[in-house]
Amino acid sequence: MVSVELRGIQKRWEDFALTIERLRARDGELLTLLGPSGCGKTTTLRIIAGLEKPNSGEVLFDGTPVNDLPPYERNIGIVFQDYALFPHMTVFKNVAFGLEMRKLPRMEIERRVKRALELVNLEGLENRYPEQLSGGQQQRIALARALVVEPQVLLLDEPLSNLDAKIRERLRSEIKRIQRELKITTIYVTHDQEEAMALSDRIAVMNFGRIEQVGKPLELYHHPKTEFVARFLGSSNILELKAENGVVRLGSLRFNVGISGRVKMFFRPESVRVKEGNDAHVVDYEILPGRVRFKLKIDGKVITSEGLLSDIPFDIEEPPKRVGVEISTFAIL
Ligand SMILES: Nc1ncnc2c1ncn2[C@@H]1O[C@H](COP(=O)(O)OP(=O)(O)OP(=O)(O)O)[C@@H](O)[C@H]1O
Ligand SMILES: [Mg+2]
Repeated sequence: MVSVELRGIQKRWEDFALTIERLRARDGELLTLLGPSGCGKTTTLRIIAGLEKPNSGEVLFDGTPVNDLPPYERNIGIVFQDYALFPHMTVFKNVAFGLEMRKLPRMEIERRVKRALELVNLEGLENRYPEQLSGGQQQRIALARALVVEPQVLLLDEPLSNLDAKIRERLRSEIKRIQRELKITTIYVTHDQEEAMALSDRIAVMNFGRIEQVGKPLELYHHPKTEFVARFLGSSNILELKAENGVVRLGSLRFNVGISGRVKMFFRPESVRVKEGNDAHVVDYEILPGRVRFKLKIDGKVITSEGLLSDIPFDIEEPPKRVGVEISTFAIL
């Protein structure tokens, strides 16, 4: 196991520039690169793998630069979006490929392939061909093939995006289980915020070739530093307000923000708790499975609240015209 670090990385193409001053995946951590299409996630992963050369900067494994090492000497396992299994080889041969290249003894190869297939819950399928497997099974084989060489770093580039929703959820918790079991330093690429939240120890949110913020899932979710991070991770309330003497007022509500002047205040709909009271006017409401979403007007501003139906302290069929509001967690952007 190792840490993976990028320092002063620059990669320029005609109409795109990737700039990463510093990014570090800790020993045994699952770090996700999350961002919209074209923001530079795959490029970053390819630089770590040694498949792409940066114009400047260093890639370090456990503090040692690996810039001059070709991919096969970096001891990494990679899984791409499109499985890329060898169609004319059996599952066994596909998984054994990296070990045969390394000329390991036959017994050792069989032992390791068996163990890798157990890890991804596919024992018994050794003699099938990729076309005889479902998409989810093929992607598990790709994962087994990456893991069988016992890499020190695992790189996964949108490994679930070709699968349908149910299988995607199942395989994502399996990836998490395997990663925890092996404690392998993993860099995971996705543009799906839910996947990133569910899987990651930490997330690096990328935008236009730059890293906007790095942090634990809930830290990014409730305390984004930029509007981009706030909006990318889910629905947001963002209000332009004025702070005086370190305090923002919104109708009868007060927030200590510690600064003065114009501020952009951010909070999630789930941070807005509706209770009995007189803080806001109910503009509209929507009942969802088990939850309820309110549009509320306070001081001329419309905000969204979302919470569990069971937490609503009045009859939801006949909500009052005015309600009390409590905002538990907020951030200043
Ligand atoms: N070999 C290349 N030559 C020129 N431009 C490239 C090359 N590879 C990638 N790019 C450009 O770099 C930018 C980032 O691409 P990259 O594949 O890293 O994005 P991504 O975040 O992985 O996107 P997606 O979610 O769509 O996979 C894009 O604008 C792309 O066109
Ligand atoms: Mg990509």
